[in-house]
Amino acid sequence: MVSPTIIVHGGAGDWPKSKQAAGLSGVREAATRGFRLLQQGKSSIKAVEAAVIEMEDNPVFNAGSGSTLNLVGDVEADAGIMDGKTRRGAGVALVRRTKNPISLARLVMEKTDHALLAGKSAERLGEAFGLPKANLKLPERVYQWKQAKRRMEKGVLGDFPRNLKLIRSKGQSILGDTVGALAIDQNGDLAGADSTGGVSLKLPGRIGDSPILGAGLYADNRIGAATATGVGEIAMRLVVSKSTCDAMRSLTAQQAASQTVNMVTKMAGRGLGIVTLDRKGRYGVAHNTPHLCWAGVTKNRGLVSQLHR
Ligand code: GLY
Repeated sequence: MVSPTIIVHGGAGDWPKSKQAAGLSGVREAATRGFRLLQQGKSSIKAVEAAVIEMEDNPVFNAGSGSTLNLVGDVEADAGIMDGKTRRGAGVALVRRTKNPISLARLVMEKTDHALLAGKSAERLGEAFGLPKANLKLPERVYQWKQAKRRMEKGVLGDFPRNLKLIRSKGQSILGDTVGALAIDQNGDLAGADSTGGVSLKLPGRIGDSPILGAGLYADNRIGAATATGVGEIAMRLVVSKSTCDAMRSLTAQQAASQTVNMVTKMAGRGLGIVTLDRKGRYGVAHNTPHLCWAGVTKNRGLVSQLHR
């Protein structure tokens, strides 16, 4: 029997002082919830879904209720989930009204033949299975959106300079980005899950890395699991989660995470974080952003949470 482990994160980025305590408490609660399930003998899929639901329901995180808004002030959330035993996985994108996008991703993985569903059609699948609906657009995010739009109108450059030219002004703040969770259960089965509102002021219709297997997340019992956070375009172009898992064939979880972030810094610049879990239950954390809010639970080390690696 394998000793269960979970690691969750609440996003890479620049966590303002006013939100740091709430962010850390949120990841601790999510990790504890997932770990409790693992201790009860539940599967790693159940544990990562439960941990991500906890964060989707916590408005301090940019996922589910509390998702950041796109350029026209709408929520378009993405989520992904992957089972390392079967290497089946799926993502959902452009979700507006399903309370927990991660559960919708699990439905796509378990009930359909597809690996990615988007928009209203994805939401209709959730409705058919009775998933709860909710208004994911919270007043605090509307306030932040108005502030970001004001910065944009002043021409403050963000991570999307070409969008800036396209729409003549652009502001971009990553206030705690994606949430994610990786777990290994008593059977040694690995799983990964992630969920996000995406990057603020993104163009309507933009889909990030989170629902894309290999980019936002990957899990394979034979090597390990990884999930990324930060600017999704970087994670997609460099296929960071799959390549980090491949690196775990010869490196530990921490070595693989650090190697990926060093490679990203050289090839694409700053704006990425990654958490990893290898098949021995060792986790790793690396980021080239000011913070990455995370928590891990193992039998030996207990609960650990930090804003840095
Ligand atoms: N990493 C989240 C996104 O770029 O959408």
